[in-house]
Amino acid sequence: MVEIWIDGDRVEAEDGQTVMQAARASGHEIPYFCWHPALSVPGNCRICMVEVEGDGASAGWLDIACNMPIANGMRVSTDSPRVRARRKEMLQLVTLNHPVDCGICDKAGECTLQDYHYKYNGEPSVSRDAKVQATKHHALSERIVLDNERCILCSRCVRFTREISKSHGLGIQNRGDHSLVRAVENGAFERDPYSDNVIDICPVGALLSRPFLHKARVWYLEPTPSICPGCERGCTVNIWHRKPEWKLNALDPRRNASIDRVTPLENPAVNGPWICNKGRDLARIFERPRAEQALLKGKPTELVEAVTRARDLIVEAKRPVALVSSWGSNEELAAFKTMLGLRFAAFVKHDAVPFPGEVIVDDVLIRPDKNPNRRAAEALFGHAPISFPDGTDLVLVWGEGFNFAGLPRGAKVIFLNSYLQPENGHADVFLPISVQTERNGHYTNFEGTVSEFRACFARKAGVADAEEVFAALATRERVAA
Ligand code: SF4
Ligand code: SF4
Ligand code: FES
Repeated sequence: MVEIWIDGDRVEAEDGQTVMQAARASGHEIPYFCWHPALSVPGNCRICMVEVEGDGASAGWLDIACNMPIANGMRVSTDSPRVRARRKEMLQLVTLNHPVDCGICDKAGECTLQDYHYKYNGEPSVSRDAKVQATKHHALSERIVLDNERCILCSRCVRFTREISKSHGLGIQNRGDHSLVRAVENGAFERDPYSDNVIDICPVGALLSRPFLHKARVWYLEPTPSICPGCERGCTVNIWHRKPEWKLNALDPRRNASIDRVTPLENPAVNGPWICNKGRDLARIFERPRAEQALLKGKPTELVEAVTRARDLIVEAKRPVALVSSWGSNEELAAFKTMLGLRFAAFVKHDAVPFPGEVIVDDVLIRPDKNPNRRAAEALFGHAPISFPDGTDLVLVWGEGFNFAGLPRGAKVIFLNSYLQPENGHADVFLPISVQTERNGHYTNFEGTVSEFRACFARKAGVADAEEVFAALATRERVAA
């Protein structure tokens, strides 16, 4: 333990910490651009300047907090007149060439340069020369656009590709105010499955998501904590969607209930501050055409009729088999086990396989099993591969991923699914169920860590939660569609 004083407060810091780390851990704010807790320390932006008091024998000095180790008895001021003056000078330097285009910048509302300018500077640009012009809309990849005039050359994005994703996909070319962030020419950044993290860590609006570009001001959106179901890592994420009080009245009403963007929800136990690009693209999974109509042998019916028919099939069956979803939540799996587990021989089904071209596994986050809750499902229903005993006369298929050609001949089929698929009409009873973004629940990832997801959107009309369907199948209760 090292004892230091920050702004007059006694702080017990850990040996080996920097002033920045000790200050953050003890609730003292120091501004920073280039520093990031998960990256190396380049010390290039100089905004984190603090003053270290002299001890009588030596004068005090100014230095950067992000790269200054603490020492016992050190006294640091984060907001002295000298610090404020130097911080202001650094901000004036940073904004010499930075355009004042916050009004059209997607980062507005989340930009640390904007925040620090108002907090520590507040003056117009001191430049007497015209701002240096650079490329405004450089396509860094299919997913990311770069505005070089906004770039403050903090090098966070470059270090991310070297230290975290290890694609080495970005670099800085040229010198001084001609410096430009650029992707290497071998396509490594285009192929980097973690590339979108540089959008989050860019402290200004230089790196922007092309799908999200100019789609919404961030203050019109709100995040709902959720889990990426893209693989068994189960990264925690924020799903951003329109705030109800800012709903659009004139445009397509679906825009008020759609995923605008997905960002990491920092979680040291699962994914740290990162997610892969598949996690950014959850709309590709959840916003596929939905099944909203119950069917009996392909013919539309009321949900309550379909549930009654399914219940009759379960009562009549002599050898029923259930294929349990590895996308079901912990709560849904437990409900199936409790309510119908004794009635069925149950096997865990892999609902999802990798998309074409998807990275299967790496040593950062991506895991080979593309199902978020297989561990919890197998804990309840075992690991046995799917098989149909002789005489199987009913199969309940819960979720996607099972080829109906593999069903035993003559067996009746009850199918619970969320999306429009040809198989829906081939089942004796089809029951449309909600998706993860319409309900609350938990998944258990491959390491046994339990995370929570919450509903972002209202459930579609005509659709029921699987948990509710199981209760109705077991008890003849009405389902509220
Ligand atoms: S693009 Fe953003 S993250 Fe990269 S160097 Fe410029 S300011 Fe930093
Ligand atoms: S690593 Fe897996 S869980 Fe995490 S964001 Fe990527 S696909 Fe989703
Ligand atoms: S945050 Fe310390 S020099 Fe950039």
